Amino acid sequence: VSSIEASRPVGVALIGSGRMGAYHGATLGQRLPGARLAAVADPAPGAAETLAAALGAGAAYTDPAEAFSDPAVEAVVIAAPARFHADLVVAAAGAGKAVFCEKPMGLQLADIDRAIDAARTAGVVLQVGFNRRFAADWAAARALLDDGTLGTPRLVRSVTRDPGGFDPSRVAPGTIFNETLIHDFDALRFLNPGAEAVEVYATADALVEPEWRDKGLLDTAVVTVRFDNGAVGVAEACFEATYGYDVRGEVFGSGGMATMGDGRRTGMVFSGPVGRAVDTVRSDQELLAGAYAAELAAFVDAVHGGTPATVGGEDARAALAIALAAAESVRAGRPVRIEEVSK
Ligand SMILES: NC(=O)c1ccc[n+]([C@@H]2O[C@H](COP(=O)([O-])OP(=O)(O)OC[C@H]3O[C@@H](n4cnc5c(N)ncnc54)[C@H](O)[C@@H]3O)[C@@H](O)[C@H]2O)c1
Repeated sequence: VSSIEASRPVGVALIGSGRMGAYHGATLGQRLPGARLAAVADPAPGAAETLAAALGAGAAYTDPAEAFSDPAVEAVVIAAPARFHADLVVAAAGAGKAVFCEKPMGLQLADIDRAIDAARTAGVVLQVGFNRRFAADWAAARALLDDGTLGTPRLVRSVTRDPGGFDPSRVAPGTIFNETLIHDFDALRFLNPGAEAVEVYATADALVEPEWRDKGLLDTAVVTVRFDNGAVGVAEACFEATYGYDVRGEVFGSGGMATMGDGRRTGMVFSGPVGRAVDTVRSDQELLAGAYAAELAAFVDAVHGGTPATVGGEDARAALAIALAAAESVRAGRPVRIEEVSK
């Protein structure tokens, strides 16, 4: 590409304009010079039009297929509900568009395989929304792994605690693994570069909403992941933390330890009669604002440069395999090997 082409903003369509989509839309429309919000698509009546008008997008569609056939659209950002992801990736890639897809890229490995195949056949960029990799502290820990400072990883840890307020009737079985811990499973892989999970043991329960236990709700879970280099990972999640949104990580290696995420809203510490207090972050979009912007910046760079995404379809597949093994481990009450769920 010429330097003029390389500096031209990429026309991006947002597919799905809900909570996450609106945030990504604002990034594409207002925070990212390399991108231009060309269109918004959402089947909910009026949803795409409202967001497109607010963000100055070029077009609004109720059918994502219209965005895929829009010549002003070079790339798409998919933020629809998970069950639609794989079909949307296949359709967008089939139309020659570069694809950024929110996690999880699919709910079955066969669906992710279809998505990977479609992007490969079309020769388009395919990136998955594992934003934690782009948070400054997590990226800095990875740099210490890559330059050897941390040595060989022995123990890796990733923790997610949501602020609560969820409706248990709307939480599908497997959500804690497929939608929440999928970030942590990817984080464990990110902090143990080149290694792959071989065996998973999970324990999970409904501790926030115990009356929903009999209906299959899981709102609290701990997952142990054994890797092929011997390192052991622990991922844990709970859907309710009284103090806000909390994401933390640790990699403990032969050369030392790195810890990530202290959840402070600002650097201010208040000291008073009862002691010292810090204010905490309340939402994912507050805690990880920089990471959400950086992942889309990396996507746009990959589209401009014609280079592969740094976190792609195979990463989506590997994290989902851990999620499926964790769900099976809870069901069966025993450790589950990755090969059992990925046949
Ligand atoms: N990376 C993160 O930290 C993070 C955080 C929150 C959500 N997410 C992901 O973002 C995605 C969306 O989550 P959300 O919280 O915004 O959900 P949401 O329910 O707020 O919004 C979903 C939107 O998609 C629309 N939609 C439904 N079917 C569609 C289709 N076939 N094509 C296009 N749009 C469709 C809905 O009308 C709705 O506006 C999920 O995959 C979720 O896992 C990621």
